Amino acid sequence: MAKKILVTGGLGFIGSHTVVELQSEGFEVVIIDNLYNSKIEVLDNITKISGVKPTYINLDLRDKNAVSAFFDGHKVDGVIHFAASKAVGESVQKPLEYYENNIAALIYVLSAMQKNKVSNFIFSSSCTVYGQADELPITENAPIKFAESPYGNTKQIGEEIITDTTKTSDLNAIALRYFNPTGAHPSAIIGELPIGVPQNLVPFITQTGAGIRAELSVFGDDYPTVDGTAVRDYIHVVDLAKAHIVALKRLIGGTNKTQFETFNIGTGKGNSVLEVIKAFEKVSGKSLNYKIVGRREGDITAAYADTTLANNELGWKAEQSIEDALRDAWKWQQTL
Ligand code: WQD
Repeated sequence: MAKKILVTGGLGFIGSHTVVELQSEGFEVVIIDNLYNSKIEVLDNITKISGVKPTYINLDLRDKNAVSAFFDGHKVDGVIHFAASKAVGESVQKPLEYYENNIAALIYVLSAMQKNKVSNFIFSSSCTVYGQADELPITENAPIKFAESPYGNTKQIGEEIITDTTKTSDLNAIALRYFNPTGAHPSAIIGELPIGVPQNLVPFITQTGAGIRAELSVFGDDYPTVDGTAVRDYIHVVDLAKAHIVALKRLIGGTNKTQFETFNIGTGKGNSVLEVIKAFEKVSGKSLNYKIVGRREGDITAAYADTTLANNELGWKAEQSIEDALRDAWKWQQTL
């Protein structure tokens, strides 16, 4: 009997790629998504890739009774919780919306799981919890820094809620701390669908390459880095999706060593903004229109992962390079 997995936010960028990987591994998938930051067409696109249509339920996880009723009516073997608001800048403008959507919903899901004896939980966390780390590459033991934004704070609080819940219940959880998810499925049938002006670098680059945006603004070239522009660890979304599968299998197989484990999910390599631009120009054959402007408020200088723990404990390693991710992101952009 196939294991049934609930994927909240399963029509989103990382969620949809993870659903495809779950289906290819023989899991039965139920998606809950309120389409706040995703499009219903993604459901058919997932089906086009995998040949299997996931069960989809349009439900807002902020509705405690609806969440409880879902778990009463569906027996699932695990939950991968992506559903959350994730724009750093927006979170500064709308803190209460972020705390409700990212914290209240998490509490309702965990409560309903507990009531229905569902114990396997994968949490979508972020390298944002580290702020500007004192040492690079960043390990999971790096100190959690004061959150620069309500978004980052919701990820820190989320991990604390899970920690406290595991102390008094059978919950087994893994938090995956994503570095910078980017790229798209190689089929170019699913990918990143930023609504409005993209906040993140790579979709802004591909939209500039496609002529949708006039030019990219590079936020600062006076950082203490190889070329003055900020450095990040850009991980291909398919590599990231695969990390969720190995983490889920670890919990289902009971090989987790503690009730709550955290893993950095990145490539372990840092690239500056200018290096990403050059890589895009190489894979697309296009010359990118950009200008250097001032730093963006709240940005850190550099972040890239030490992935030793995920390599050794999960047996997971990123396989794709920044060029692979940009090639797939560009191929996807050209279908839009
Ligand atoms: C990357 C670099 C910018 C846009 C955010 C969240 C993080 C995670 C990933 C969810 C930075 C520069 C960007 C532009 C630019 N999301 N940049 N011009 O800020 O590292 O991380 O997304 O978990 O939590 O904080 O990603 O893509 O916004 O920026 O120069 O138009 O590109 O300054 O150095 P970031 P990003």
